[in-house]
Amino acid sequence: MDEWKLTMEIAARVKAAGGRAYLVGGFVRDKLLGRSSKDLDIEVYGIEPAALCLVLSELGEVFEKGASFGVLGIRHTDIDIAMPRRERRSGMKHTDFDVSVDPYLSNREASRRRDFTVNAMMYDPLTEEIIDNWGGRSDLERGIIRHVADDTFGEDALRVFRGAQFAARLDAEIAPETIAICKTMQVGYLARERVYEELCKALLKADKPSVFFRVLRKMEQLDVFFPEIKALISVEQNPVYHPEGDVFEHTMQVLDAAAKLRDQAKFPAEFMLSALVHDLGKIVCSRIKDGRIVSYDHENAGIPLARRQLKRLTDNRKVLDYCENMVALHMKPNVYARGNSAVKKTRQLFDESVCPEDLILLSQADSDGKGGRICEDSLQYLQERLADYRLCMQKPMITGADLLAAGYAPSEKMREMLARAKQLHFAGLEKQQALRQILAEFQQDR
Ligand code: CTP
Repeated sequence: MDEWKLTMEIAARVKAAGGRAYLVGGFVRDKLLGRSSKDLDIEVYGIEPAALCLVLSELGEVFEKGASFGVLGIRHTDIDIAMPRRERRSGMKHTDFDVSVDPYLSNREASRRRDFTVNAMMYDPLTEEIIDNWGGRSDLERGIIRHVADDTFGEDALRVFRGAQFAARLDAEIAPETIAICKTMQVGYLARERVYEELCKALLKADKPSVFFRVLRKMEQLDVFFPEIKALISVEQNPVYHPEGDVFEHTMQVLDAAAKLRDQAKFPAEFMLSALVHDLGKIVCSRIKDGRIVSYDHENAGIPLARRQLKRLTDNRKVLDYCENMVALHMKPNVYARGNSAVKKTRQLFDESVCPEDLILLSQADSDGKGGRICEDSLQYLQERLADYRLCMQKPMITGADLLAAGYAPSEKMREMLARAKQLHFAGLEKQQALRQILAEFQQDR
């Protein structure tokens, strides 16, 4: 049975048992926005837990969802089924809650513990009635993220980042009273994985991920998890090349430009993170020279800063390595395109890149984030050069086996010879020609 049919079946059987089942949370919000939602979160009122278990077990294998305080699942589905409950914080960890289930709690009381009005609506799939105790529908229509209740909102500090993430995804404003309460919340004890998850939702789902950071800035909540991004504020740039403003503003515009390209990226999350950290080096490199602001070598100075910022959020080696590589190389595509550099330079560049396709996209976003657009000629140049690199890599190249056959043993020297062989290959030498040259160059070292 498909999940929607199963949901309707649950609702019908709950009704027959004397209760009422509602879809809650993101499903209702997304439905009103005309978006499909894969999350089917059901809340069942008016029947005892044992009766609910009986109803569900007639429809599939029921299990208790470990981390989620008495939430039930049906095996092989994404449906969550819960009962209305009271929650009270008992400690600082996000799992530290005393929970008491009460099937007879009013839906108003139960929905009061939800984070935002737009997430606190309920939908009866049998009658198609929407229950909106907190004005969520009008907030959704007006594009406002507003917390439901002063006394419960602050119980989960992740809501600071959830608010920023929803504002980005829904292109909404945060209500001033919600900004005010978020300013007071302590986010330091949050697990970085949870913050990273919210960040990734903003980076991958929002048309304008910049909203996430602009909101956190307003909430004065960049310090703990995004201090390097915060340090971009007021780092001035040369207004001739950067009419958009300081490096924070530039980064925000690059992020939004990158969001338009992320579907083309081979690694969308890593690509977006690279856009976020690409210019951190400007924090330490920007200075005035001959009356102009310059930031020479910021791409290399940015590598440790990018690592430091990203490590506040994740230890994923693939993510860190990818982003460092992108930061280090991000200036080169546009510089080479402007200078119409020789093929051996672009071959070398693409060879150093973890993902040349994504590197070109980043340079495109970087140009777009200066208030302009990458010029079509540059893009065409880079794409042609990438095609050239791919072709070049298909041609026979000197390998370790060739050097072993020539009598060399694996060693540091052999590594140098292979690096030199690559240079010759990129310079256009045929394999046999390159081999002769290498052997001549390294002859005395055999
Ligand atoms: N919720 C909450 N406070 C939290 C986390 C979740 O109040 N810290 C509630 C909200 O009502 C939310 C629902 O639980 O709508 C489901 O949470 P989640 O699945 O994280 O988010 P969704 O709203 O479904 O959004 P998404 O599209 O990101 O899944």
